[in-house]
Amino acid sequence: MPVDKASLLAIVAAAGDARNNAYAPYSSFEVGAAVLGESGNIYAGCNVENVSSGLTVCAERVAIQKAISEGEKHILAVAVVAGEHGIARPCGACLQVMREFAVPGEPLLIAAASLDGSYDTHTLDEYQPMPFVIEE
Ligand code: THU
Repeated sequence: MPVDKASLLAIVAAAGDARNNAYAPYSSFEVGAAVLGESGNIYAGCNVENVSSGLTVCAERVAIQKAISEGEKHILAVAVVAGEHGIARPCGACLQVMREFAVPGEPLLIAAASLDGSYDTHTLDEYQPMPFVIEE
C-alpha cells in the first residue's frame, strides 16, 4: 500500500506537535514521532524519560505502542522530529520495533524531519538492512 505525500506531511506535522509534550528533563533532547496505521489513522508520541535512564522510552516506540494498543495490526510509515540539532534518525531499538509491525514484504517509510518541516524519507530496509529475525 503506497503512502501518499499528504499522509507523509500529516505524520510529520503530528510528530512536530507531539514533540511539544516531550518529557526530557535529563537529556533536554526533545523528540516527537507519529505513525500511519494501516487503517489510515495517525498515532503520535514523544520521548518519555525516567530518572532511571534505562526506563526512558523513545518517541517512536511510544507512538507505535499507541497504534498497536488501539488495534492497528501494521504500520505503513513513521515520522520522527527532533529539534535544534537538525534531523534525528531512529535508534536501532526503534527500528527493530518498527520491523515487528511493518507489512510483510512491503516497504515501511521513515520520514526524518527537522523542526522547519523539511524531511527526507528512507525505507526501514535502508536503515536496517540486516535485521534480527528468527527463521521459521
Ligand atoms: N530518543 C528518541 O526519542 N528517539 C530516538 O530515535 C533516539 C533517541 C530520545 C531518547 C532520549 O529521551 C533522548 O532522545 C536522548 O537520547
